[in-house]
Amino acid sequence: MRSHLLNDTTAEQYRRSVTEGVERVAAKLAATDRPFTGVSVDALAPRVDEIDLDQPLHDTAAVLDELEEVYLRDAIYFHHPRYLAHLNCPVVIPAVLGEAVLSAVNSSLDTWDQSAGGTLIERKLIDWTNERIGLGSAADGVFTSGGTQSNLQALLLAREEAKGGSLAELRVFASEVSHFSVQKSAKLLGLGQDAVVSIPVDHDKRMQTVALARELERCREDGLVPMAVVATAGTTDFGSIDPLPEIAELCEQFGTWMHVDAAYGCGLLASLKHRDRLTGIERADSVTVDYHKSFFQPVSSSAVLVRDAATLRHATYHAEYLNPRRMAQERIPNQVDKSLQTTRRFDALKLWMTLRTMGADGIGQLFDEVCELAREGWRLLAADPRFDVVVEPSLSTLVFRYIPADVTDPAEIDRANLYARKALFASGDAIVAGTKVAGRHYLKFTLLNPETQASDIAAVLDLIAGHAEQYLGESLDRAS
Ligand SMILES: Cc1ncc(COP(=O)(O)O)c(C=O)c1O
Repeated sequence: MRSHLLNDTTAEQYRRSVTEGVERVAAKLAATDRPFTGVSVDALAPRVDEIDLDQPLHDTAAVLDELEEVYLRDAIYFHHPRYLAHLNCPVVIPAVLGEAVLSAVNSSLDTWDQSAGGTLIERKLIDWTNERIGLGSAADGVFTSGGTQSNLQALLLAREEAKGGSLAELRVFASEVSHFSVQKSAKLLGLGQDAVVSIPVDHDKRMQTVALARELERCREDGLVPMAVVATAGTTDFGSIDPLPEIAELCEQFGTWMHVDAAYGCGLLASLKHRDRLTGIERADSVTVDYHKSFFQPVSSSAVLVRDAATLRHATYHAEYLNPRRMAQERIPNQVDKSLQTTRRFDALKLWMTLRTMGADGIGQLFDEVCELAREGWRLLAADPRFDVVVEPSLSTLVFRYIPADVTDPAEIDRANLYARKALFASGDAIVAGTKVAGRHYLKFTLLNPETQASDIAAVLDLIAGHAEQYLGESLDRAS
């Protein structure tokens, strides 16, 4: 069994084994002609169920053959140009190389004595990100598992920095289309049920700052404490960017923590064309960035950044067995002092390899391409009478719905769109997402693949129309 341990004596087996796996995946990626096979849960589950985990196969090739059956064949492939659903990007090769290195060396970024150079690399990437944001010389931050955790940590710091008020009196303001992790965080942080105040959005799905000002005022009048405003730079559905400068003004006026959730919009930090859309982000107290959304990084890769490094102390605990206080006094850099996690992956290495290979401009160029693709998609949708499209894209999403020429019942149109999404998924030809707008069911393209062409968008729209029409035809048959 020792032959399976990765060490000085098994380096050759490691090379062979990993190469075998890489060959399989490379062959798979090259031959994938659809983002999904359309397999059903009922068809796939028995294949996984029948495997006896107490009967190992011992042989890498056999294990990979089995993996083909239970996973690789039917996985959802984000690199395929017709995967258009959620905020998942195709990944860049330097980052995948980083992933292979980091799991083989297996550094843990909690303490210097488990990572050494890894800690320095992460710190340099945090500084690099902060410089791009413009948070100033006292800024700091830490890598996290994703935007949800970054938002949670930012709001933890905001809660601790809030001036006065019991937990029940703290209020967090976020737009009605902000990410649900804001609500989850409020709950985890012990705030009251009404803690998150939903602020309406304008026609472009951006937070209405007049409404925000009114709610902040009301909060003060009611003797409550405005703990934080969460501005979203790139909402999940619409990619809309809240008016950051106006929100910064209001936060200053009311002495409120400003958090910018740029989980999606952070790609603009590298953009060659649209960096100005993030103007105002430099005034935030904290920022969430998800490199695994718009920096083309494998899951997970995210960070929470703060204007004032000292605020990270709210996540600091010392333990004799790990990071005794004296280490901080000796200035030994233990990242666990800033993190909610203890054992932590060296995810930063992926971004490091990416920047050292392609440079930030390379990432920015790819992100600019998907934003341009979304504009082309919008032009297609706006000109197509079969579809209603909600807003012009700010980043790279399109929210739309099929509207049959001869059907006026909105509920029936809902059902046709829901059916089209399901049928498309089951066919595996393309994958699109869905959401609700003003109580009605819509479909969504999240465009994060520069390989997707306008012709793919046009073809998928035709497929959607075809499925919706089929549903409506069958529905007519049922009625008659
Ligand atoms: C705006 C926004 N914030 C936060 C998140 C949560 O990020 P994660 O899925 O990495 O936890 C998402 C995810 O889609 C998001 O769109």
